Formats: sequence, structure tokens, C-alpha cells
Amino acid sequence: MSYPRSHIGYIEEDFLAQLAEEARTKFGVGKVADYIPALAEVEPDQFGMAICHRDGRVQSCGDALVPFSIQSISKVISLVIAMRHADEFGLWQRLRQEPSGMPFSSLIQLEREEGIPRNPFVNAGALVIVDILVEKIFLILHHMREFVREHSGNRSINYDARVAESELRNTSRNAAIAHLIKSFGNIHGDVNRVLEVYCHFCALGMNCVDLARLFSFLASAGHSPISSQQLLSADQAREVNGMMLTCGLYDASGSYAAQVGLPAKSGVGGGIVAVLPGEFTVCAWSPRLDANGNSVGARWALEKLVDYLGRSPL
Ligand code: DON
Repeated sequence: MSYPRSHIGYIEEDFLAQLAEEARTKFGVGKVADYIPALAEVEPDQFGMAICHRDGRVQSCGDALVPFSIQSISKVISLVIAMRHADEFGLWQRLRQEPSGMPFSSLIQLEREEGIPRNPFVNAGALVIVDILVEKIFLILHHMREFVREHSGNRSINYDARVAESELRNTSRNAAIAHLIKSFGNIHGDVNRVLEVYCHFCALGMNCVDLARLFSFLASAGHSPISSQQLLSADQAREVNGMMLTCGLYDASGSYAAQVGLPAKSGVGGGIVAVLPGEFTVCAWSPRLDANGNSVGARWALEKLVDYLGRSPL
């Protein structure tokens, strides 16, 4: 494909249509997450992408309206809610903002670093954030669902109870992480409640359009063009984007930053949300994953998009 460079504003519809077509050539590479049994049943050969521009206009292609399990993409939402409700100084005493260089469910650093997780996007960090939210916010599952509904503009978004139950029955590793953190005093509440809320957050069912719209505030200095609300200050939005760029794809964050260069967060449901600050938020989805748990097709599509634009924030 050859396209003119430096598109500011909108993306040519032809480019998107061809991208969805070419994505089919990646089908068959990688495998769906099977350590959560309900995710193993997802049809693997699907691809969708949606872009939400600063003015709220959406462009999409492929299976952009098919709902999928957002999994670790929820870690950005829980972080944002924590930044809105908790004292930020206290928050960054309980977890750090450094890349881990480790798989997302690793326990090794936690033991060495006395229960202080490296960042909010590894499972350990997300479990500490959930503990903070359970303590601070009454009816936290209701609050989370209302937040995603209101700021994506889709009132029908819900938890997929089957996925949540499936993970809860197979979450020994997260239970080990949470108990280890609690042994250092950095989880205050009941570990089972923290795991239940965490697995529900991961089991939110959303599509590419919902996610691109929900995260559009990260491209607009904290202001959502969908709900017309300031969700974070401009400084906080920059902080979240920085953590996404350095930690959002776990131990693949370095090569991803080099090759794509957009702040992003992946989930084992096959979604990746990425931000071009000042311009748009994009969500690409394809269920087959690489060895790091990141979607093969979504990462490929983001590389193609950056190539097409001829620019990234770096
Ligand atoms: O806790 C887990 O293992 C999953 N619920 C989420 C992991 C995940 O999505 C990592 N992302 N690439």
C-alpha cells in the first residue's frame, strides 16, 4: 500500500478497508489466551479497529462492533478512577511508575521489592489499585460500569459474568500475588473481595468503538469529547500516557515503543488501545496473542497505522 504521509485529521476510508483486508493474512499467527477457559472459546480469526478523533468522530473497519473481553485494558480505567478519587501522593507510595521487564503475572520482583508493585499495569499493581478502590468507593462494581457507560456513550456495556466466573475459578496466580502483597501490608482489605472485583473489571465486554470513545480523553488533555467532562487534569493525562508508553505492553514495551511509539495498553482478550496525544485514540483487536500476551494482529495494525501517518509522538 502506498499512501500520502502526514494525515492530520481524518484517515482515508480506503486505508482502513485495506487494513481490515490485509489483517486476514495474519490470521493463524499466535494463539488465543487459554489459561482463562472462557477466553479459549473465542473465535480466533477476527480483526477490528476503531479510531476516535479529538472531536469525537469515529472511523472503524472490520469487526469493530464485536464485543470482546477487555482484560488488562481495564487496568487503565481502574488507574484513572483511582487518580480521580485517591490522594495521588499516597497512591504512588503504594506502587511505582517503572517498567517491570517481566511478564504481567510475575511474582519475582514483588518478593524482592517488598510488596510494592512496579507499575499499575502489571497484575500486582492492578490488584493494589483495586484494593484502594474497594476501600474508597461504595458499590465499586456499579461505579466502574457507570464510568465506562457514561464516557463511552454506550449504556449497554456490562460485565460478562461467565468470563468473570471462569477467571475467578482459575486465578491461583493472582491469589498468590495478592496474598504476597498483603503479607507486606500493601493490600488492606479482604483478598477474596479484591480478586472478585479485579476479575469482574477484566471481564467487561466492550468493542473497539466503545474503547476508542472511552479513552478519547487521553488524546485531549483529560477532556472527554464523548461525555464533555474533564476526567483528569492535562498533567494527569500526560502521566497516564507516559506509563502506557513505558509499561503498557509488559516486557514487550521497549520494542513496541521503538516500533510503534504510541502510548498503549494491551489485554489478553486481544485488544490494544493506543493514543496519539492531541489527535486520536485507537483500539485494534484480534484475539490471537504472541508469547508476551499481546495481540499479534492488533500490534501489526498499529504499526501499519503509524507507517501510514508517518508520525508518532516520539
Ligand atoms: O489477570 C489476568 O491474568 C487477566 N485477567 C488479565 C491479563 C492481561 O490481560 C494481560 N495483558 N496482556
